[in-house]
Amino acid sequence: MTTFTVAMLAASPRKQSINVKLARAIERYAPDSLRFTWVRMDEMPFYNGDLEGNRPASVTAFTDAIRAADAVCCVMPEYNRSLPAVLKNAIDWGSKPMDANVWRDKVVAITGTSPGAIGTAVGQQHLRQILSVIGAHVMPGEAYISFKTPDMIDDQGNIADESVRAFVTAFAARFAGLVAKLA
Ligand SMILES: Cc1cc2nc3c(=O)[nH]c(=O)nc-3n(C[C@H](O)[C@H](O)[C@H](O)COP(=O)(O)O)c2cc1C
Repeated sequence: MTTFTVAMLAASPRKQSINVKLARAIERYAPDSLRFTWVRMDEMPFYNGDLEGNRPASVTAFTDAIRAADAVCCVMPEYNRSLPAVLKNAIDWGSKPMDANVWRDKVVAITGTSPGAIGTAVGQQHLRQILSVIGAHVMPGEAYISFKTPDMIDDQGNIADESVRAFVTAFAARFAGLVAKLA
């Protein structure tokens, strides 16, 4: 079986983050063909062109990890109907310089969860638009999850609710299929 590496970007720094729980669930229910590496984004400074030529180690560690991965999975909260700044900052670092843009032709799955009824749907539209502009292959379709009860996903990524588990499993399987085709 061919295996593919996936850089997991969980875009919340909170210890009890529901998006980190969702990211763990995706890893847990994904096919064995996907091997996940969790990549940090919160150690990078804000993008500053003056640092080009002497990029901080946290930035080169990030861009090296994305470059080395066959695909990327973004799991994000929605902040004010958009993506969190930590993820936008990471995308900006990775997109520069233009001839070393790590997102070009990268297969990217996007999802997220919030307690709201349309959990992260609007934020994901922004994320999709940004990634498309910089040349990523964003998985078609939408996957946003309303985190209905505080224990919907446990700390290990186990999902008790059968329909949510089936949805996350199908999402991960669809991603694995796309990665196998395109990566
Ligand atoms: C600055 C900020 C803005 C938020 N904006 C939204 C929003 O636009 N839509 C939404 O559904 N939830 C919004 N929320 C609530 C988050 O969905 C909720 O706090 C969630 O638990 C954050 O994800 P995390 O647990 O993974 O950190 C916002 C929260 C914060 C802190």
